[in-house]
Amino acid sequence: MTIILDGKKTSEKILNKVNERLNESKKSKLYLPPHLAVILVGDNPASKIYVNNKKKAAEKVGIKSTIIEFEVNVTEQELLSKIVELNNNDEVTGILVQLPLPEHIDKNKVILSISPKKDVDGFHPENGGKLLLGVEPYFYPATPQGIIMLMDEYNIPIEGKHAVVIGRSNIVGKPMAQMLLRRNATVTMCHSYTHQDDLVEIIKTADILVSAVGKKIVRCKMVKKNSCVIDVGISRDANGKLTGDVDFDIVAPSCGFITPVPGGVGPMTIASLMYNASKVY
Ligand code: GUN
Repeated sequence: MTIILDGKKTSEKILNKVNERLNESKKSKLYLPPHLAVILVGDNPASKIYVNNKKKAAEKVGIKSTIIEFEVNVTEQELLSKIVELNNNDEVTGILVQLPLPEHIDKNKVILSISPKKDVDGFHPENGGKLLLGVEPYFYPATPQGIIMLMDEYNIPIEGKHAVVIGRSNIVGKPMAQMLLRRNATVTMCHSYTHQDDLVEIIKTADILVSAVGKKIVRCKMVKKNSCVIDVGISRDANGKLTGDVDFDIVAPSCGFITPVPGGVGPMTIASLMYNASKVY
């Protein structure tokens, strides 16, 4: 029997825990309320939805949030100045710049300008570098952290297992591989230059398969028996229906655990981000 990993239910559990923890810390005289500043540049419809969902989740758990909007033609300097201002504002405890940014803005410069102690996305090189070195970062990137939280909720073993990550983005693939490595998995990374035949053979050996590509890539019954399949991809099919990287109907009967799309990784990412946003350094 394949177990469907319920990201919605697990995320609610985590959000409740964050809320309880915040209520508990309010009793302390030293309590500094978390305040998340979210920067949105331009009018990308998907980004607007993501940012609003983050704000709603923050309200739900009792984290103050402020959305700061800029026109698409904002200069890099204006954006960097705002981040410096937020870094220096002691009332702001978390800063998130929604990606993607317009092409005229250097994303890496922007990420580098955020104080690592307020970098709730965990994208700053200090946080990414610490993850790589096995030193505790201030924040782990939300999506991989949410995936680990979901696997832990279902007691899915990681240590000694062969984990295959498809996709090498800075947001998901790379930190996911590092976090699995940190939990003592044997990690293989596949990406757009991996030969198709190799990909098929590698997937067959995965105890844990994480696909973060954004197109249907895990199609056949090639997954290992009892494996755990995590689908990070989200796109729309020809009928406009939300779909993931994994052909759920074909793959689900062959594996042991699988995340649905929607209702799997998506809500876990938000819950994991709120967990980060509740931390104050
Ligand atoms: N765009 C897509 N995913 C993310 C994310 O996790 N954080 C930010 N800041 N932007 C994104």
